[in-house]
Amino acid sequence: MTDFEPPLSQRAYAFLAELVYNRSRIRLGPDRQAFVAGRLAGRLRELGCRSFEEYCGRLTSTASDEEAEQVIDLVSTNHTHFFREPDHFDHLSQALLPVAAHRAGVAGRPVRVWCAAAASGEEAYSLALVLAEFERRTAGMRWTLAASDISRRMLDRCRSGIYDAERVQLPDQAWLARYFRRGFGVREGQYRVKPELRSRLAVSAINLFQESYPVPAEQDAIFCRNVMIYFDEPSRQALVERLYDHLAVGGQLFVGHAESLLGLRHRFRQVRPAVYERPA
Ligand SMILES: C[S@@+](CC[C@H](N)C(=O)[O-])C[C@H]1O[C@@H](n2cnc3c(N)ncnc32)[C@H](O)[C@@H]1O
Repeated sequence: MTDFEPPLSQRAYAFLAELVYNRSRIRLGPDRQAFVAGRLAGRLRELGCRSFEEYCGRLTSTASDEEAEQVIDLVSTNHTHFFREPDHFDHLSQALLPVAAHRAGVAGRPVRVWCAAAASGEEAYSLALVLAEFERRTAGMRWTLAASDISRRMLDRCRSGIYDAERVQLPDQAWLARYFRRGFGVREGQYRVKPELRSRLAVSAINLFQESYPVPAEQDAIFCRNVMIYFDEPSRQALVERLYDHLAVGGQLFVGHAESLLGLRHRFRQVRPAVYERPA
C-alpha cells in the first residue's frame, strides 16, 4: 500500500461534482477539488484504479448506484455530536412536546419526530433521550422517531449506537446509566445505547431529494439541521416546501443555526432562531 494520490484533472473533477450534485444536491465548488481528491484516493487504491479518469470511466460504464453512493459517502461532511445546538432540545422538551403530545393524544396517534439528516446518530439519540424523558413524565404519551440520512455508512453507525465515551456529553448525567451501557474488553472506553432505546428508532436511507419520503406525514417535529448549507438555493427552496407538507399543522421544522430560511419563499411562521412552525 502506498500513499500515492493520483492527480485529479479539471475534467474528472467536473464529472464527479456533477454526479454528486445530481444525486444528492450537494454542491461541490471549485475550492473543493483537493478535498475530493484526498477523500477518494483510498477508494481508487481499493479498486486498483490508477487514475481518476479510470475511476470515472468505471462509474459511467457500470452506471453503478452502489459506487455513486460510495462517492457521496466519501465527499459528504458528517460532523455531528450529542445535543448540538442545545437550545433546540430545550425548546422541544419545554415548548413543543407538551402541545404536540396533547394534539397527538386528541387525534389518537403518537407524537412523530423525524431526524432527516441523522449522520452517525448522535442527533437522533439526543431526540430519543428527550422523548423518553418526556414520556416518563407524561402518562399515556406515545412517540415514534424516524432517523434517516443519504449515507448508508453513517446509518450503520447510527444503528449500532456505539460511541466513544468522551463524545457522550449529556445535559443530565443520570441519563448515562438510564440509557447507555458501558463497554468492556475491546469496547472499553465506549458506550452503547441500550437496546430498548435503539429499537425505538426507525432507521432508513432517505435522500432528501428522492421522489417521496417513506416516513409518515403529519410529523410534529422535523430536525433537518446542518445539511441545507451544502445545497444551492433552488434545492433548499424545493426541500423546505416538501418538509412543510410533511409536518402536522402546528408541527415545527428545526434547521441549523447557520441556515435560516432567509431569502426563501415559505409559508412557515418563525417561532425562535432556526425553528419554523407550520401555522393553522
Ligand atoms: C453535517 S451532517 C449533520 C448531522 C446532524 N443533522 C447535525 O446537525 O449534527 C450532514 C448530513 O447530511 C447528509 N446528507 C447530505 N446530503 C443529503 C441528502 N441529499 N439527503 C439526505 N441526507 C443528506 C450527510 O450524509 C451528512 O450525514
